[in-house]
Amino acid sequence: MAASGKRPEHRGPPELFYDEAEARKYTHNSRMVEIQSQMTERAVELLGLAEDRPCFLLDVGCGSCLSGDYLSEEGHCWVGLDISSAMLDVALEREVEGDLMLADMGQGIPFRPGMFDGCISISAVQWLCSADKKTHSPPRRLHRFFSTLYTALAHGARAVLQLYPENAQQLELITTQAMKAGFTGGLVVDFPNSAKAKKFFLCLFVGTSGTLPKGLGAECAGEEAVQAKFTSERMRFRNAKGRSVKKSRDWVLEKKERRRRQGKEVRADTKYTSRKRRPHF
Ligand SMILES: C[S@@+](CC[C@H](N)C(=O)[O-])C[C@H]1O[C@@H](n2cnc3c(N)ncnc32)[C@H](O)[C@@H]1O
Repeated sequence: MAASGKRPEHRGPPELFYDEAEARKYTHNSRMVEIQSQMTERAVELLGLAEDRPCFLLDVGCGSCLSGDYLSEEGHCWVGLDISSAMLDVALEREVEGDLMLADMGQGIPFRPGMFDGCISISAVQWLCSADKKTHSPPRRLHRFFSTLYTALAHGARAVLQLYPENAQQLELITTQAMKAGFTGGLVVDFPNSAKAKKFFLCLFVGTSGTLPKGLGAECAGEEAVQAKFTSERMRFRNAKGRSVKKSRDWVLEKKERRRRQGKEVRADTKYTSRKRRPHF
């Protein structure tokens, strides 16, 4: 859990903390881009989505949509919700593919019942533990968030929320409110013994008591066993010939086309596009 003095939640409400300058700094920080993308990849894996079709997903606290980029790369449709107009402005400038909504998750998730196949949230939900206004009650805001999220998800869907709780009490407050709202599931902790790599994923199920996935790098299961499980779950990214769909020619061409639409400089397609390179020694 992060050192308290450095926590953004202590520096003011999110809509003020994530102002124009912060939104730009955040989005152009290559380390941040990489971390958000990695955590989104893991969150999507924990969602356990149907493999045979694109899904309709919700990204809560979508920010400038670094996480949304990953959802698009995976072929999903999505809606991003955030309280910071500066973060959403950067997402708009970047012409991300999802639909965007300016809203406060503490006031509830304003969508029709059963609309989404899944929900992710990356590094956002701990903000609900801070009371930024006299009228704010963290337990009530958390309950409103979880109960409306529960309703917006389809039966059998999951929500995977990566979060940075400040302490054990916060974590308990968050999980208690999620369970009160009707979710089953629990916490998946990746790399629990590493101060830097440790990550909390709250995995919530709607209407089913599915098995909670194992965390990565857990002490009790040998490192190899945990890694093996992760690898086997990722088999869904492979096609019938065992080749990674992510590296296939179609996948690369589609990604290049998307980047062109975003106004980015992209090399022309040739017969060599996506060809396997020889290893360099
Ligand atoms: C660390 S950023 C996450 C960025 C995002 N995952 C991405 O890929 O760009 C946390 C985000 O949570 C949002 N947030 C914090 N409290 C919120 C609230 N009550 N409702 C909606 N969004 C909130 C912030 O505005 C911020 O954009």
